[in-house]
Amino acid sequence: MDGIARISSFFLLSVLLQSSLNSSLGSAQSIISAGKMATAGKVIKCRAAVAWEPDQPVVIEEIEVAPPQASEVRIKIVATSVCHSDLYHLLQSMHKDGFPTVLGHEGAGIVESVGSGVTEFQPGDKVIPLFLCQCKECRFCKSPRTNQCERAWTRVRQEIMAGVESRFTCKGKRVHQFMGTSTFSEYTVINQIAVTKIDPAAPLDKVCLLGCGICTGYGAAVNTAKVEPGSTCAVFGLGAVGLAAVMGCKAAGAKRIIAIDINPDKAEKAKVLGATDFVNPKDHNKPIHEVIAGMTNGGVDFSLECVGNVEVMLSALESSMEAWGVSVIVGWTDMYDISIRPRHLICGRTWKGSMFGGFKGKDGVAEMVKAYLEKKVRLDEFITHNMTLDQINDAIELMKNCKCIRAVMTVSPQ
Ligand SMILES: NC(=O)c1ccc[n+]([C@@H]2O[C@H](COP(=O)([O-])OP(=O)(O)OC[C@H]3O[C@@H](n4cnc5c(N)ncnc54)[C@H](O)[C@@H]3O)[C@@H](O)[C@H]2O)c1
Ligand SMILES: *[C@@H]1O[C@H](CO)[C@@H](O)[C@H](O)[C@H]1NC(C)=O
Ligand SMILES: [Zn+2]
Ligand SMILES: [Zn+2]
Repeated sequence: MDGIARISSFFLLSVLLQSSLNSSLGSAQSIISAGKMATAGKVIKCRAAVAWEPDQPVVIEEIEVAPPQASEVRIKIVATSVCHSDLYHLLQSMHKDGFPTVLGHEGAGIVESVGSGVTEFQPGDKVIPLFLCQCKECRFCKSPRTNQCERAWTRVRQEIMAGVESRFTCKGKRVHQFMGTSTFSEYTVINQIAVTKIDPAAPLDKVCLLGCGICTGYGAAVNTAKVEPGSTCAVFGLGAVGLAAVMGCKAAGAKRIIAIDINPDKAEKAKVLGATDFVNPKDHNKPIHEVIAGMTNGGVDFSLECVGNVEVMLSALESSMEAWGVSVIVGWTDMYDISIRPRHLICGRTWKGSMFGGFKGKDGVAEMVKAYLEKKVRLDEFITHNMTLDQINDAIELMKNCKCIRAVMTVSPQ
């Protein structure tokens, strides 16, 4: 019997028990509250995609998810999508201490139960897990200059890309919670500083994208580059992150947005989201920064690297106007160094990095959910595949082969 079936029989049993005690029960509400009572405080056995080893297919396993401890929230994940950073860990960095793990950091769900001392969340709340927490008390959280938090896992165990603690076990082994979130699981447990409550009207199978890629790209343009009205921009790499950066440049009022990708299939979506030009580096036999300089009388005002490739990071920098260009590194890699001639910066360029689009986790995600509901940012255009968690390896293959923007997987029924 799988986890879902086991949990539903719990539901049924408690509903039956309650109904025999109180004949007025039986509404949908009572079924929900009976379900809560059935699992709160207990270990939940459920299904999750476990990455046992690097560079191997993930395996759907039954895992045990411990009850939330003090300040923690246990969440039923409803929908999740695959981001390139999941692939980076599984297929590129492959850090030996980073396995077994449950990947996934772009998800949305419903609070199942809360640990002691949690007042901000209640069972039934719609939430989005955050790979970048916001404690609201540390000197970073209190500063408007950064979205980093001193309590973030990234400050402790960057190389294995996992939270410090884990509430997961499988076959007697402790399993890491990738990026502190692990959304490729029916249930997950997260500290309340890394969870944000969202508008109950939000469709979870769409807003799950705001857990990473869309906020990252959009915010990199709006918050980090601070794209100006009437400016010229270049976006390198048109996955969800780059396409969201295009959307951010457009929202900020850019006049010209040059979208760059080695995959010509990306041109159409980029134009839908606001790109005015598309350039495929493979169509040119000179360096891409020379092509961009030629198109823009010396370079763009703002460039954004959304690939995670150090050579592209240099191209993006050199594509920006020498006198005042701002270039932002958004793509992720922790495997290679970059070296440049100081001259590239001395004349006036600014080189920046952006994590999670400069958004403070809790505030930013809740704000972007609101913007989606008010139709100020688009999400539906990014979803190219609807799947279920069982198809996780297919979703990983699609992303690996650049055949999707985002594949959204249903994890649990809502
Ligand atoms: N900074 C952050 O907080 C943060 C957050 C999320 C993701 N990321 C990173 O952002 C990057 C993009 O993520 P994604 O999910 O959109 O990935 P993706 O794989 O969907 O998109 C990458 C795109 O880059 C294109 N590309 C590859 N090589 C290129 C080249 N030489 N020139 C131009 N385009 C090229 C690919 O064709 C693809 O369209 C990844 O490195 C990911 O790890 C960073
Ligand atoms: C995915 O499902 C949604 C309904 O939630 C639908 O609107 C959308 O068209 C589907 N997308 C694809 C690519 O199948
Ligand atoms: Zn991501
Ligand atoms: Zn903090």
